[in-house]
Amino acid sequence: MPEGDKTAPRDPKSVDETEALLARGRYVADRALATAVYLALKLNRPLFLEGEAGVGKTEIAKVLAETLGRRLIRLQCYEGLDVASAVYEWNYARQMIEIRLAEAAGDKDRETLGKDVFSEQFLIKRPLLQALEPPLTGGPPVLLIDELDRADEPFEAYLLEVLSDWQITIPEIGAIKAKAPPIVVVTSNRTREIHDALKRRCFYYWVDYPTAERELEILKVKAPNVPAALSREIVAFVQALRKQDLFKLPGVAETIDWAQALAQLDVVALDPAVVSSTLGALLKYQDDIAKIQGSEAMKILEQIKVEVSAAKRRPGA
Ligand SMILES: Nc1ncnc2c1ncn2[C@@H]1O[C@H](COP(=O)(O)OP(=O)(O)OP(=O)(O)O)[C@@H](O)[C@H]1O
Ligand SMILES: [Mg+2]
Repeated sequence: MPEGDKTAPRDPKSVDETEALLARGRYVADRALATAVYLALKLNRPLFLEGEAGVGKTEIAKVLAETLGRRLIRLQCYEGLDVASAVYEWNYARQMIEIRLAEAAGDKDRETLGKDVFSEQFLIKRPLLQALEPPLTGGPPVLLIDELDRADEPFEAYLLEVLSDWQITIPEIGAIKAKAPPIVVVTSNRTREIHDALKRRCFYYWVDYPTAERELEILKVKAPNVPAALSREIVAFVQALRKQDLFKLPGVAETIDWAQALAQLDVVALDPAVVSSTLGALLKYQDDIAKIQGSEAMKILEQIKVEVSAAKRRPGA
């Protein structure tokens, strides 16, 4: 954060402050995650978040940008992602126009023109290059490199250089180096392993499914309109579902979706008919739905009703 910038939020000075910061962004983090975020910020290391789908990896970058008052620069990875889409590209159309205009005016020699059209104004900056630029206001941006496991290995190798030196070399211009490194969050769904070399440069954290207690907290924050008793049943059901042998277990995103769907339907308590007609909010594969629908859902429902009423009777519940 630049000196004298009184309006920009300050970086957290402890794990407690980090937890509070994430909470301000409506993110319910456990102690271990808050510690990882704090250390990544403090040590200027990229934060590498790995975990199943929908457990809140991407959200951390968004919340950090929002609560720290930084610009969020997002690089969504995919197979075939290359330097032209991730780093920079020359604006050929503008270069052509410039050449034509110079030819018409006849005021530039070949060498000058060649230099001119390969200057910064003809450069299209993509996310990685944007992230190294000095910010217009506030501190350095948050760079989210999302779902790195989808990109190819050569891109990962390229990234290694950028994340070690905070520098990108453009042959025609030279090296562009960040004055202050951005806050980097890398996420992976682990569809393939990311190389050790890259992981070693990062602070690694495995984002697990939340405990029932934390998931209930998340619902309180993200679906406040859902009655408390129903939220408890929803969380118990989802947690039980995660113990089943399914192709794709529901993430936190699905829990929130389901809670909101049930609230829309004015449901106050789970019953077999409601569960069966709304399972599509939780499970996204027909085989999984077929497995759970019917007697399995009934069994889970019976079990969670017992659990929830026992929990309600516990002091402090
Ligand atoms: N701990 C949490 N506190 C608050 N909201 C959360 C939490 N975890 C997940 N969520 C919510 O769940 C949704 C999914 O989160 P997110 O998109 O970050 O998941 P993801 O891990 O990136 O998933 P994917 O791998 O599918 O991209 C978001 O709406 C987010 O707000
Ligand atoms: Mg994500």
